[in-house]
Amino acid sequence: MDSRRLGFVLGVVLGLCPSVAMQADGSEDEKPLYKDATAPVERRVDDLLRRMTLEEKVMQVNQYSLGRNNNENNAGAVARVPAEIGSVIYYDQDPALRNDFQRKAVEQTRLGIPVLFGHDVIHGFRTITPIPLAQSCSWNPELVTQVCAQSALEASRAGVDWTFSPMIDVAHDPRWGRVAEGYGEDPYATGVYAAAAVRGYQGDTLSAEGSLAACLKHFVGYGASEAGRDYVYTEISRPTMWNLYLPPYEAGVRAGAATLMSSFNDVSGTPSSASHFLMTEVLKERWGHRGFVVSDWDAVRQLINQGVAADGREAALKAFNAGLDMDMMDDLYQRHLPDLVNKGLVPMERLDDAVRRVLRIKFEMGLFENPYTKEMKREKRILQPEGLRLAEQMAEQSIVLLKNENAVLPLERASTIALIGPLAKDTENLLGSWFAYGEAKDVCPIDRALSQEFEGRADILYAQGCGMEGDDRSGFAEAVGVARRADVVVLCLGEKRRWSGENAVWGSISLPEIQEDLLAEVKKAGKPVVLVLSNGRPLDLSRMEPLADAIVEIWQPGVVGGKPLAGVLSGRVNPSGRLSVTFPRSVAQIPIYYNRRPAARKGTQGRYLDMSSEPLYEFGAGLSFTTYDYGEISLPKETLRKGEEMTVEVRVSNSGPRDGMETVMWFVSDPVATLSRPVKELKHFEKKLIKAGEEAVYRFTVNPQRDLSYRDAEGNLVLEAGDYYLQVKDKRVKFTLID
Ligand code: NOJ
Repeated sequence: MDSRRLGFVLGVVLGLCPSVAMQADGSEDEKPLYKDATAPVERRVDDLLRRMTLEEKVMQVNQYSLGRNNNENNAGAVARVPAEIGSVIYYDQDPALRNDFQRKAVEQTRLGIPVLFGHDVIHGFRTITPIPLAQSCSWNPELVTQVCAQSALEASRAGVDWTFSPMIDVAHDPRWGRVAEGYGEDPYATGVYAAAAVRGYQGDTLSAEGSLAACLKHFVGYGASEAGRDYVYTEISRPTMWNLYLPPYEAGVRAGAATLMSSFNDVSGTPSSASHFLMTEVLKERWGHRGFVVSDWDAVRQLINQGVAADGREAALKAFNAGLDMDMMDDLYQRHLPDLVNKGLVPMERLDDAVRRVLRIKFEMGLFENPYTKEMKREKRILQPEGLRLAEQMAEQSIVLLKNENAVLPLERASTIALIGPLAKDTENLLGSWFAYGEAKDVCPIDRALSQEFEGRADILYAQGCGMEGDDRSGFAEAVGVARRADVVVLCLGEKRRWSGENAVWGSISLPEIQEDLLAEVKKAGKPVVLVLSNGRPLDLSRMEPLADAIVEIWQPGVVGGKPLAGVLSGRVNPSGRLSVTFPRSVAQIPIYYNRRPAARKGTQGRYLDMSSEPLYEFGAGLSFTTYDYGEISLPKETLRKGEEMTVEVRVSNSGPRDGMETVMWFVSDPVATLSRPVKELKHFEKKLIKAGEEAVYRFTVNPQRDLSYRDAEGNLVLEAGDYYLQVKDKRVKFTLID
């Protein structure tokens, strides 16, 4: 328990009076409007707000934790959690704890305001799905929606109302461990996934059973942390803020996200958690967001570390007046806001606005009518068949086949497979970072999945070879021996689950030397090597790639573990994932991403003299067991007016032997603009099943205002007449935009 204590005893200040609702002036009424479920939400909020004392209002904008904190990045706790608190981070999976606490809030406080129970349901609650970075490689936002809806259902049955997800920080530096939690490097794709996740968590209405309130995080710029170091500052120009970091948030807000979390980082000198520009001017005023912003853990207090506040009081003042509505875990709002309001430093209207936002979400969630969670039996609410089915489908679609020399995959003719590597029997690491209440015992390890998949078709020989790290090479000889006796080697290497996620920064993004050495040793057996990678970030594969005949990126697949991989190895599953993030050749190339701006000189000038300037695997890379032929892009017209739209098409035929799912990515480029624009920008994507021998038509309706514009430093949309290009794979067409 840390030394932080509540500033005053709430039971004394607020009094306990369960049955009648008192107004702030002490008068009572029998049937307060805010308890009338048929009254409109805004009137209920007004009515409740009118009755609240200053201290009661302040309590609504605080969040403490309840239960056993199992998150190593969230250190510390508040000693006593008062029942008048606005929200708790709910560290439990048993609805009984929630209900006990909620009962105190609803039945034993003066106004009976229910508590909002939040939790990090990042990629599942108990049914752990692939990490978000993997999910983004599926290019299937509809599936993201379905997977999030299942996570919401499972978490809500445990008593959670609110998830701190999706994380939609565009990131260009794989040293930053949190790339695992996001949807890759592209702002448009991240925005599409943001909206998909919000739809999944929140459903059609927040009050529906099984819905969670979503939280877009971390607002904003956290993914630009300098050199990938966690919690540090960022340098983001206004045009880059508007065109790269803000668009996913705008998409998430438009999709109806109830809340946002302010980020730890500072943006060019102003911490996001103290940024009036970001939280008030952009989010609330320009975008009209009506939910609330919660701080990240301790982010208010951290304003002191960041050098913009002298003490907790000043930190609370700056954060709150900037528009940060709820304080996660600092207890600085609780301690200081009453006095800051009394002294006129925080206007009462600002406090009312923040409280109104919190209450609005509580009313919209139906918490006043249904404050308790139905206490279902655990086996009826966890690891349910539909959740597992969707998790498996997602894992199948997120696998990226990065290399397949001589069509070594699928393994149709192999009668003996050597399964080698520290991840071959692993369970825990396949869960990935932030796995809520996931358990290693739920995970299907790769060896079990392969034995089932290849039963009666191939023998599986096993050797671990080495551990995930360290220097013990004593298992190498056995691994080479096993490889010699097999037709093919499946070598399972990668990262431990804690090597990515929060506070998991690496200076090197290569795998530990011992894993690289194991590959080099095993290769000496002379058999084709299928390298299976499970990791939470792009890796430096420069020493491994030349030694592998095939590379299968399975990311951290969660509870379904090795099953989807087994399907790919056998050919039951035709891989359809594509990278949503660039794989650099080495750390030296970072930052490297596809949507860079054009350089001043073309050709070979300005390139590295000692290494390639090209990444190892580009954004969008990914192979299939079939082949696709792309036709030319058909344009209905070559000149488009600014107010018009046009639908462009491309035909793709599956000319190979298997059915497959192909994602078509539509890029736009604007070669001459007032502000130099990226060489190409993704504007639309679509994934479709194309049966072997068949053809599919992919369409994109170009809306100039939406697809051809950019934002200037003030955030104004700029749409300029002139030539533009549309690009799909290596096909490119030009058209002209006129006034
Ligand atoms: C800190 C993390 O940055 C954030 O993503 C998370 O939601 C909070 N802790 C709460 O666990």
